[in-house]
Amino acid sequence: MSRKPIIAGNWKMNLVKSEAKDLYEGIKNFVKDYTAVELPTVVIAPVFTSLSVVESIPCSCGCGGNKISIAAQNCHWESSGAYTGEISVEMAKDAGCDYIIIGHSERRQYFSETDEMINKKAKAILAGGLIPIICCGESLEQREAGETDSWIAGQIRAALSGISSEDVAKSVIAYEPIWAIGTGKSCDADEANRVIKMIRSVVSEIAGSSAADSIRILYGGSVKPSTIEEQMSKSDIDGALIGGASLKADSFNDIIAKTMKVAVASV
Ligand code: 13P
Repeated sequence: MSRKPIIAGNWKMNLVKSEAKDLYEGIKNFVKDYTAVELPTVVIAPVFTSLSVVESIPCSCGCGGNKISIAAQNCHWESSGAYTGEISVEMAKDAGCDYIIIGHSERRQYFSETDEMINKKAKAILAGGLIPIICCGESLEQREAGETDSWIAGQIRAALSGISSEDVAKSVIAYEPIWAIGTGKSCDADEANRVIKMIRSVVSEIAGSSAADSIRILYGGSVKPSTIEEQMSKSDIDGALIGGASLKADSFNDIIAKTMKVAVASV
């Protein structure tokens, strides 16, 4: 089955409002020449304080899709209450988000997020009608010890525990090997495809083959305009979650353009 690619920019803790607005305008200016049918699903994830200067752009061709969708970089699983510094799914939705990134390795590493917390967040996001982008990935030590597959399978089983097949099918997973994030050293495309296939087989065990065929699984870690075509040409890589190269309109737009080129070539 053919899955619509996703190109998602994780802006991390970068860009004040004026800079976020400039970057948003640069992406908006590029996508205006295409319909949402031609474009991949384009998602941008600014910091919470910049959500007010971006908005999703519905396509005017009648396809019902968006040319740009907005993601939050995190959320809490409770709907409101005494959780200083957190925002709820409803608040992210109220700020215009359709997606929420959860379980990023930076949040696991620096903010002690556990698999259990990520599972609660995924359930809250789906219950709120939004789509979780669930991150997973191994450290260099785990890779060198031959633990990559078992570690990632464990992260995926925990994150999706107790979620219906229907909700699993509409979720997004991002495979981001920690050693490839921000290092300039992207994972070999064949190896990324192998791990993503393995993730799809775990999803199939948990939620059935139809959910496994539908779920979109992205690669993240030093994705650049020079790497995306090879990555997108692989059977199971459904798109990219991009950090550094999403902070400049030129490189992010180039990644979108190259993703469309690969999609056209594979028809
Ligand atoms: P880089 O593209 O900067 O390696 O970051 C990847 C990432 O962590 C996206 O979530």
